[in-house]
Amino acid sequence: MRLQNKVAVITGAGSGMGKAMADMFAAEGARVICADISGQEKEVVAKIGDAARAVHVDVACEADVQNMIAVAEKAFGRVDILCNNAGFGGGMAPIHEQTTENWDRVHSVNLKGVFFGIKYGVISMLKTGGGAIVNTTSASGVVGWKHHGIYGAAKAAVNQLTKIAALDYADSRIRVNAIAPGTIWTGLVPASRENPIPPPGTRRLPGIPIDRWGVAREIAAAALFLASEEASYITGTILPVDGGYCIGFSGMGAEHSGMPDA
Ligand SMILES: NC(=O)c1ccc[n+]([C@@H]2O[C@H](COP(=O)([O-])OP(=O)(O)OC[C@H]3O[C@@H](n4cnc5c(N)ncnc54)[C@H](O)[C@@H]3O)[C@@H](O)[C@H]2O)c1
Repeated sequence: MRLQNKVAVITGAGSGMGKAMADMFAAEGARVICADISGQEKEVVAKIGDAARAVHVDVACEADVQNMIAVAEKAFGRVDILCNNAGFGGGMAPIHEQTTENWDRVHSVNLKGVFFGIKYGVISMLKTGGGAIVNTTSASGVVGWKHHGIYGAAKAAVNQLTKIAALDYADSRIRVNAIAPGTIWTGLVPASRENPIPPPGTRRLPGIPIDRWGVAREIAAAALFLASEEASYITGTILPVDGGYCIGFSGMGAEHSGMPDA
């Protein structure tokens, strides 16, 4: 029960990683606010029971985010943990084919939504003497991914926002960290849905040393750690949870490296 008596607000809790966080946090003793734009957050809450409440939120809307935090305070008295997890991919394409509308759409949710979350989450946590914020960014905000210009730029900005928020609030006992998922099998990535973990010996995702898709509970486990007291001396970190993807190039084994034997 690592989150006993804690109150956690999770955005994007209707599916994927956010749903996994809500289930795992509740199992660890937290009361959880499941916030999403989809309506699916109600099903998540129905399964968890009395320890959860659903809130409809568009994280790109400042008034919605402010209301989300107010609902948490009204229902459970405080906010100890905030997971700014809601996000979406947007169209992937070379930059010259992208539109200004798509830039605004992706950045209003994936970046501005995190700014609103931090702002109102912090205002609440300052009243109760501290807390933990965990932002979901992306490996594509750590290293460059082809055709991910708009999405990757938003996620890289969230990484920087995470570090600066960690500095701003370290002396207020608010820790701010981020998780940078690699390729995780959720609704965001419909490809290979039928077979998320390739059989041994096949390599459906070259460049991933652990040679398979990640799954949502592996992200939730990292969020649980960063949100819990176990991470009490960790702030401002961007934690890759990516099967080793961000370490570097792993596409060639020694046998194919082309390097001559000594
Ligand atoms: N799946 C991956 O491979 C991957 C990799 C790196 C980062 N991410 C990031 O992880 C986070 C979670 O994604 P996921 O893979 O679980 O996808 P998902 O689609 O299963 O879940 C995302 C949730 O966010 C909600 N959402 C979207 N826009 C919203 C808005 N404006 N307001 C409120 N809720 C909104 C959706 O309704 C959905 O329930 C996202 O921030 C995503 O960018 C995902």
